[in-house]
Amino acid sequence: MAETEEQVAEQVSMFERIGGFVVIDRLVETFYERMDTLPEARTIRAMHADDLGPTKDVLKRYFTEWLGGPKLYSAERGHPRLRQRHMGFPIDTSARNAWMLCMEGALDQCIADEAARHEIFVNMAKLADWMRNTEDKPGGPQSPAPRHPAHS
Ligand code: HEM
Repeated sequence: MAETEEQVAEQVSMFERIGGFVVIDRLVETFYERMDTLPEARTIRAMHADDLGPTKDVLKRYFTEWLGGPKLYSAERGHPRLRQRHMGFPIDTSARNAWMLCMEGALDQCIADEAARHEIFVNMAKLADWMRNTEDKPGGPQSPAPRHPAHS
């Protein structure tokens, strides 16, 4: 039986839709470049090693798999257990917002397809919410929550 256009479309992963390895590579490089330079990200940058090289490689493999591409992350590291892997870092709302600020700009710069970008943003924000493991300081988060007209 011939497949409908819709059925064919469903078989294309988000990984392929946004442009595959080249775009994941650019996204992660841009994300860490922002983390390295934005004053709002100073606290979360300090949680990372000086040399971001190995972390970039891991994140590229993770996003490849998370977006439906080849399972490069789990082949090497097993089940992601991401929340558990982040327990050693104090992640409050301010840290979460700083992480999303780096990611939002990277998504804007690297992903041309607006609908795909929005879907990824929403799902990443959920993951970042879930990664919080530390009470917020009195007075609320210090980093401004990222604003984006397309997501408000
Ligand atoms: C919300 C604030 C977050 C902070 C402050 C944070 C911070 C960190 C830090 C400090 C590391 C260790 C890096 C190293 O060893 O050099 C790390 C690892 C990692 N993070 Fe995050 N992270 C956050 C959210 C997220 C989110 C939302 C994702 C996924 C969408 C993510 C994915 C990863 C991955 C895949 C690793 C590598 C884990 C491994 O070792 O296998 N992180 N993160």
